[in-house]
Amino acid sequence: MPQHEQHPTTAAPRRAVVTGSAGFIGSHLAHALVQAGTTVIGVDRRDPSSDATTIANLASLRGIPGYHHITADLLNCAIDPLLIDADAVFHLAGIPGVRPSWGPQFSDYLASNVLATHRVLEACTRIGVPRLVVASSSSVYGPTDGGASVEADRPKPASPYAVTKLAEEQLCLAYAERPAGPSVVALRYFTVYGPRQRTDMFTHRALQAALTGQPLRLYGDGHQRRDFTYIDDVVAATIAAATVPTAQGAINVGGGSNASLLEVINIATSLTGRDIQLQQDHARSGDVLLTRADPSRAREVLGWQPRVDLHNGLRAHMQALAAQVPNYSRAA
Ligand code: NAD
Ligand code: UGA
Repeated sequence: MPQHEQHPTTAAPRRAVVTGSAGFIGSHLAHALVQAGTTVIGVDRRDPSSDATTIANLASLRGIPGYHHITADLLNCAIDPLLIDADAVFHLAGIPGVRPSWGPQFSDYLASNVLATHRVLEACTRIGVPRLVVASSSSVYGPTDGGASVEADRPKPASPYAVTKLAEEQLCLAYAERPAGPSVVALRYFTVYGPRQRTDMFTHRALQAALTGQPLRLYGDGHQRRDFTYIDDVVAATIAAATVPTAQGAINVGGGSNASLLEVINIATSLTGRDIQLQQDHARSGDVLLTRADPSRAREVLGWQPRVDLHNGLRAHMQALAAQVPNYSRAA
């Protein structure tokens, strides 16, 4: 059973900056770092007082010693003062999500994922931050031939979002080659799930549908597969990426639970005892049929491997959601 927000870490930076700390992954990471004794400066542009998702994401961090929250947009704030004395910067701020990136929002993707990253890199270089860990994405691989993706594979991003994530990680790796640049680890996260997952994502929506009886919109036939990766495992890999001195370059973070959407629906149904009413819709452009990580590099370089299987991870995710559904009780 996953130990929610009990991330097993043997070492952690003394002082770190987490960008995107009001987001899904960033808030879990900041909490785990503080628990491990790190002083954390969290930076995010979301309003921490009125936005409901942000309030929920920051709830466990509010007022705890060792966590300092800054509300600021990385596109225009003064970044240098935030980085002074930091052993590591975890750069997770960005606009996620494959499907909306085709629309007029693309300029936001470009701004937050590429231009803001450039500002972070310039500041890291000026201040002399030794290590930058950046959140890259499995989407950089694009369509595969069915085999596991290895970091050395030629990327073929299939959506505007994926193009920005590839540009982001490559920009970071280019700065790592400069004499004063930080050493960089670009973690290619594979479809992360668990408590507080973004509400646009499939796992959240499937569990929510099973808990509430509301219909679930399914894009395509449901046979598309993902390497679903549990949040605690992602946090453990991310902290290791900052603390293993020799780590550098792109590293896959995934490989524990490859499953189709229909398999996730079956597990959600069995966990809640309630069938999900499906609304079939057409497959969305840019959605690949399969993601599958080769996790060898993460194992060799970071000593990391996923520990939480899909069934146990979905149970923990479901329990966190069920606590928010009024009058929920497991169907017979
Ligand atoms: P999220 O939307 O929950 O968190 C991202 C946070 O970044 C948000 O709180 C947002 O306000 C902040 N942000 C965006 N632009 C900013 C800016 N210019 N200045 C300050 N803050 C800004 O998303 P998430 O799912 O936690 O993803 C975090 C990172 O991991 C993203 O970079 C995403 O591309 C990457 N990633 C996520 C997944 C996944 O499955 N969730 C998989 C692969 C990669
Ligand atoms: C996820 C994140 O959303 C991206 O930010 C991240 O970069 C990416 O993982 C990654 O691994 O790099 P994705 O794999 O598309 O992207 O995950 P979901 O958004 O949960 O979608 C998974 C599948 O479910 C897709 O085929 C999607 O079309 C489908 N889906 C999603 C539905 O059928 N219905 C929905 O309501 C939502």
